[in-house]
Amino acid sequence: MALSDYKSALVTGASSGIGAATVRALTGRGLTVHALARREQRLQELADETGCLPIVLDLRDRDAVYDHLAAFDVDILVGNAGTGRGMEGFLSASPEDIETTLNLNVLSLLHVLRAVLPGMVKRRRGHVIHLGSVAGLYPLYSVIYGGSKGAVHSINQNLRIELMGSGVRSTEICPGRVQTEFFDASFDDAKKAEAMKEPGIEQLTAEDIADAIVFALDAPRRMNVNLIEIQPTEQTFGGFTMAPITGGG
Ligand SMILES: NC(=O)c1ccc[n+]([C@@H]2O[C@H](COP(=O)([O-])OP(=O)(O)OC[C@H]3O[C@@H](n4cnc5c(N)ncnc54)[C@H](OP(=O)(O)O)[C@@H]3O)[C@@H](O)[C@H]2O)c1
Repeated sequence: MALSDYKSALVTGASSGIGAATVRALTGRGLTVHALARREQRLQELADETGCLPIVLDLRDRDAVYDHLAAFDVDILVGNAGTGRGMEGFLSASPEDIETTLNLNVLSLLHVLRAVLPGMVKRRRGHVIHLGSVAGLYPLYSVIYGGSKGAVHSINQNLRIELMGSGVRSTEICPGRVQTEFFDASFDDAKKAEAMKEPGIEQLTAEDIADAIVFALDAPRRMNVNLIEIQPTEQTFGGFTMAPITGGG
């Protein structure tokens, strides 16, 4: 089941960043690619460039997800749409930040999967790619976003078990810092977004992640790439943080 055996794909969060790079990579390999996001103009420009088929949809609208996607026959699902609302810190996050991030990163990811997976299982052909994050694998000052991506990690591990014997493969991609519009969308404060976007290291590109997705899809049928963790060379995980208790009030 190499990439050449797959004919069609659905990529969520396709209007920018990793999703758009994945649409370019998959259309470049001759697949029919359905590109889903909210920004119609962006999707239209991508369609003009790549021949992808736009789906303008807000994934937080559960009924619209099932209405549009339940009868969708695709070989590949790239569940990529995600946000980091509330990343500035749990204590400064609004209730809306919490709900936006959990709704998009977890609930809508599950609803999209629930809509398209039965067809893959029935056809005994398919590959689910989900975008996790290193924030879902390691503690990174990221209660809301890290919590949502931790859920994605657990979803993928359990999915792998449920898919045993179905012929459908699944892969979790866990990137570190990638240079995209992610922080513009996640922060209200443009200066904080800028600081996150320019950490002073050479960051990954969206194309690096699309290449990893293609690697997983192109593996031979006998091989399931369970998880790919990728960071910039100049970023790593772990380490201790210590701070004295300071007085309140
Ligand atoms: N950038 C990083 O450093 C990084 C690191 C690890 C993991 N990731 C993960 O990688 C994935 C892609 O992120 P990115 O870096 O490529 O960020 P991005 O450029 O901000 O892309 C996010 C995509 O999600 C779409 N989206 C947001 N809300 C949506 C909604 N309600 N309904 C439908 N689509 C929606 C956006 O399109 P519209 O606004 O047009 O809807 C956009 O296409 C995310 O899951 C993110 O958590 C990113």
